[in-house]
Amino acid sequence: MYSGIECISLNRSFGNPPLEVLKTIDFKIPKGQFVSITGRSGSGKSTLLYAMSGLDKITSGKVLFSGESIHEMPENKLNQFRNFKMGFVFQFHYLLPEITVLENVLMPARKTNLHKAKEAEARKILEDFSLSHCVDKLPGQISGGESQRVSIARALIMQPEYIFADEPTGNLDSVNGEKVLALFQKVNKDYGTTVVIVTHDMGYAKLAQRTIALTDGRIESDTLN
Ligand SMILES: Nc1ncnc2c1ncn2[C@@H]1O[C@H](COP(=O)(O)OP(=O)(O)O)[C@@H](O)[C@H]1O
Ligand SMILES: [Mg+2]
Repeated sequence: MYSGIECISLNRSFGNPPLEVLKTIDFKIPKGQFVSITGRSGSGKSTLLYAMSGLDKITSGKVLFSGESIHEMPENKLNQFRNFKMGFVFQFHYLLPEITVLENVLMPARKTNLHKAKEAEARKILEDFSLSHCVDKLPGQISGGESQRVSIARALIMQPEYIFADEPTGNLDSVNGEKVLALFQKVNKDYGTTVVIVTHDMGYAKLAQRTIALTDGRIESDTLN
């Protein structure tokens, strides 16, 4: 059994007549790898990230996580699988404005009533991310770069095996963008988390161990950096 993610003949189309957005995508990501997915706007990067993480449906093909076919799981099992094994980071941090940074980081743990048990861990992650000064602040009281780092801390609180990030630097200046990339490198190295980030910025893409480039819904290149 392969340990990691396998995308097998993945197709995704939308509408009728169907617009084919992902066209027979095949690749494997071994556990512990840090991969970037790059390509122009509209090339299918977000669609691929959502398809491979089970956030969205596929039209045909399979996605296996250590041999388990996620798109064939019943909805509740897929939700549970995602909550325990995957963390997500988006272009917008989506922190809840009325609760503190610490409480935001603990939100994924709250779903399964683990927020008390995870509090020390949340403080530790925030400290590791140089965010101790933000713990008791509200999201409106911290900067954009800090907010994005908090959203990465939130994605890590359940100690996921996989992190998926869609344009996580999209709203940041280059100093904060580099900090966010450095954080993904750290998470990958320190916790052995498999990291998949989507970015249209080749400079950031090259900081991953491997870059998969999409053109018009197909893999154009797949290279080690
Ligand atoms: N829900 C949807 N319905 C119809 N078309 C979609 C949908 N999502 C994405 N697309 C189309 O798929 C293509 C790729 O989109 P996307 O994956 O968002 O690209 P990228 O993230 O690389 O910019 C675009 O042409 C987009 O319009
Ligand atoms: Mg996109």
